[in-house]
Amino acid sequence: MSDHKIESILTEDRLFPPSDDFRQHANIKSRADYDKLRTEAEQDHEGFWAKLAHTEISWSKDFTKTLDESKAPHYSWFTDGELNVSYNCIDRHLEKNGDKIAIIFEGEKGDTRNITFKELHKEVCLFANALKAKGIKKGDRIVIYMPMTPEAVIAMQGCARIGAIHSVVFGGFSAESLKDRIEDATCKAVITADGGTRGGKVIKLKAACDEALAKGCASIETVFVFKRAGNNVAMKDGRDAWVHDLTAGLSEECEPEWVNAEHPLFLLYTSGSTGKPKGIQHSSAGYLINCIMTMKWVFDIKEDDIFWCTADVGWITGHSYVAYGPLANGTTTVIYEGAPTVPDAGRFWDLVERHKISIFYTAPTAIRALMRLGEDFPNRHDLSSLRLLGTVGEPINPEAWIWYNKVIGKEKCPIVDTWWQTETGAHIISPVPGAIDTKPGSCTLPLPGIAVDVVDEAGESITEPDRGGYLVISKPWPSMLRTIWGDEQRYVDTYWGKFNNRLYVAGDSCRRDKDGYFWIMGRIDDVLNVSGHRLGTMEVESALVAHERVVESAVVGRPDDIKGEAIFAFVVIKGERPTGADADALVADLRKWVTKEIGAIAKPDDIRFTDNLPKTRSGKIMRRLLRSIARGEEITQDISTLENEEIVKQLQGKF
Ligand code: WT7
Repeated sequence: MSDHKIESILTEDRLFPPSDDFRQHANIKSRADYDKLRTEAEQDHEGFWAKLAHTEISWSKDFTKTLDESKAPHYSWFTDGELNVSYNCIDRHLEKNGDKIAIIFEGEKGDTRNITFKELHKEVCLFANALKAKGIKKGDRIVIYMPMTPEAVIAMQGCARIGAIHSVVFGGFSAESLKDRIEDATCKAVITADGGTRGGKVIKLKAACDEALAKGCASIETVFVFKRAGNNVAMKDGRDAWVHDLTAGLSEECEPEWVNAEHPLFLLYTSGSTGKPKGIQHSSAGYLINCIMTMKWVFDIKEDDIFWCTADVGWITGHSYVAYGPLANGTTTVIYEGAPTVPDAGRFWDLVERHKISIFYTAPTAIRALMRLGEDFPNRHDLSSLRLLGTVGEPINPEAWIWYNKVIGKEKCPIVDTWWQTETGAHIISPVPGAIDTKPGSCTLPLPGIAVDVVDEAGESITEPDRGGYLVISKPWPSMLRTIWGDEQRYVDTYWGKFNNRLYVAGDSCRRDKDGYFWIMGRIDDVLNVSGHRLGTMEVESALVAHERVVESAVVGRPDDIKGEAIFAFVVIKGERPTGADADALVADLRKWVTKEIGAIAKPDDIRFTDNLPKTRSGKIMRRLLRSIARGEEITQDISTLENEEIVKQLQGKF
């Protein structure tokens, strides 16, 4: 057992207070200050958010009405206000901080670029004018399929500037996934690049777009192509245009389009418990205020911080804590395009040292992967610029927490374990680092103005310590999702149906300990968490059954040391169950197939062929049994209700 592991067992319930130095300089300096904010919000929920929104957002027309609950569970915030998010992220800093660096960019090969707020303003305006020149208007949906470069942020901000609604699709998703998302939101244009770089390889984004468009996507009129990797790409006349050609000669000024507070800023697709991803729709003002406040409360952001969130803009974390939150606060933010292990496993720490990063935010899976590669890599670098660390995406195991605290934070940086979701827009439960003592593995306490509860099957609050229940949010909050694009009913059913439209159901189970600290226990639905990314088991199943040789499949998760959860697929194929070389070849083929259908993140780790799935007499697949089998556990559940009891041995791989 490693020292960190032993220590994590010994310190399970230990409290880790921030250092006096951290506390003295923190935005919120004590538990009492935090409690005061929370009480204030509890006493006047609307007033609390109204005051913050009035002062922290620059409005072109201030709002008079804070919260509209008349169409619950559809809520609107700051309903008669008008603003522009891009103006709030860029223009309002120009006078005082125009020459301050907004983005520090580094490519995998080591190329770096600093972009000031003034320069960012120019780039965003130019690009927004290019969008307009191609007829893009307020309300149009635009898909963004980009590498992790400043241009991804410029594309998002450019859309926001003219009121176009962006839908970013992670560059690791396949052409097929891109096509589905384009069609679901009838997008009018694609913004992409010739290619991106990762692990020394060029990711051919434009080629994937071409493939998606060749299969359908009739609504697409224009493909905007940024030059990045320099690889050869095909350009279709009349449809595809290089951004540098379009912007040549355009104005460097673009008046922001002032939109209503509720105007959709973006859609972001995420997995649910059906085969079809959901287009989560976010607002402008409500989303922005929670991004701004969490930067201040959770990241304790200050004027001179250098902030690095390692997430890709393809995920919500990259929206809230790369593209919007830091810029809205006038913060210098770091973007790195490349793998964490190039040229070696010290790359993150090398970036921290050279760019003097003070706040570092990443996922437990990355921490575990780097931990496994040893302490030498971090120890070779000067990490003294760091003052605060964060994690997101899944529960962090105490062993990794202890390592992060000691080896990276040198026991002087608080760790904020932030619980939130694509749907919540911003942090919901997280330590406020100057005020809340942390415990390894717990996301601690809800943020001010956010009413979180743990309830039982009847929707009653569970007060007894350590008893698990449903994690719910009992009052609307500004950055909550507004709906699922094109599917109001699914929005209501998925998030509100369970408790009579009274509570927002997050889909996680959770317990509170004797100190009221929250401990996330896992998902309650058929959603997997692979390396901090959400994947529906049904999505992977649909991809598998689309293969010509597959008849049926059932996908479950099993624990994995690095990824948190790994994908285990039970597969029934046409004809004889394959064995030997045929089975090996088919496994390889199916893995490739799923990569093509969804993307590499959905590739099953294990595939086991079986003559049949374990079904009850009513035809229901016994998933719990499959989960036990995938974990290699003893079977304890009653299998006598199975129609085909004899299949169990085969499922276990025993013959
Ligand atoms: C799901 C949301 C929010 C950005 C990344 C993922 C899990 C997220 C934590 C955490 C335990 C966490 C939950 C949640 N999750 N953060 N700090 N501790 N679990 O966003 O893809 O929308 O997934 O990720 O299960 O419901 P997402």
